[in-house]
Amino acid sequence: MDAILILGYFILFLIATILAYFFAIPFLFGAPYDISRKKALKNIIKLTNPKKGDLIAELGSGDGRICIELAKRGAEVHGFEFNIFLVWLSRRKIKKLGLENRIKIYWGNFFMADLSKYNKIVFFQFKSITKKLGEKLKKELKRGSLVISHQWKIQDWKIKKKLGKFNYSYGEVYLYGV
Ligand SMILES: C[S@@+](CC[C@H](N)C(=O)[O-])C[C@H]1O[C@@H](n2cnc3c(N)ncnc32)[C@H](O)[C@@H]1O
Repeated sequence: MDAILILGYFILFLIATILAYFFAIPFLFGAPYDISRKKALKNIIKLTNPKKGDLIAELGSGDGRICIELAKRGAEVHGFEFNIFLVWLSRRKIKKLGLENRIKIYWGNFFMADLSKYNKIVFFQFKSITKKLGEKLKKELKRGSLVISHQWKIQDWKIKKKLGKFNYSYGEVYLYGV
């Protein structure tokens, strides 16, 4: 009986740890895990307009779906993701598609990364961090770089173009210039 109780507590602890890792902890640094759905993805691609010669960073790359779509269109893409499960999953998908030469997924906090070499930045992050992230991007990006943000606007930045609707399943996508 005791052994069953201990096993029960252990399973509960494991579930709580996994949930915290996916949903609670990311709140401290950015958005918890969610996906860009079909229509939003289409709009992200349209506004990013990926092509050969682009070096794009995706901040919080999740399961790698955006990195993959951008790389399929010729761009070199670097994803930053601090959830190790998602890093593993996206690397696996990328390998299966044979896109390892065009996509790299880094495990870590994108706030710690130097983003100065990228000419385009894509992200789907929370409102609570867009101000801080906007300051980092202004400091590091070269003039002429583009920033594409899904769902949440960057506070105090002037929108160049927007596509889609502000809606849970579609998501508005914004284009900014630096
Ligand atoms: C809303 S999801 C978006 C996933 C993917 N980009 C997409 O659009 O389908 C946000 C992702 O950012 C990751 N994340 C949040 N803050 C982060 C940070 N500071 N550094 C690295 N990854 C972060 C989360 O783990 C999560 O996978």
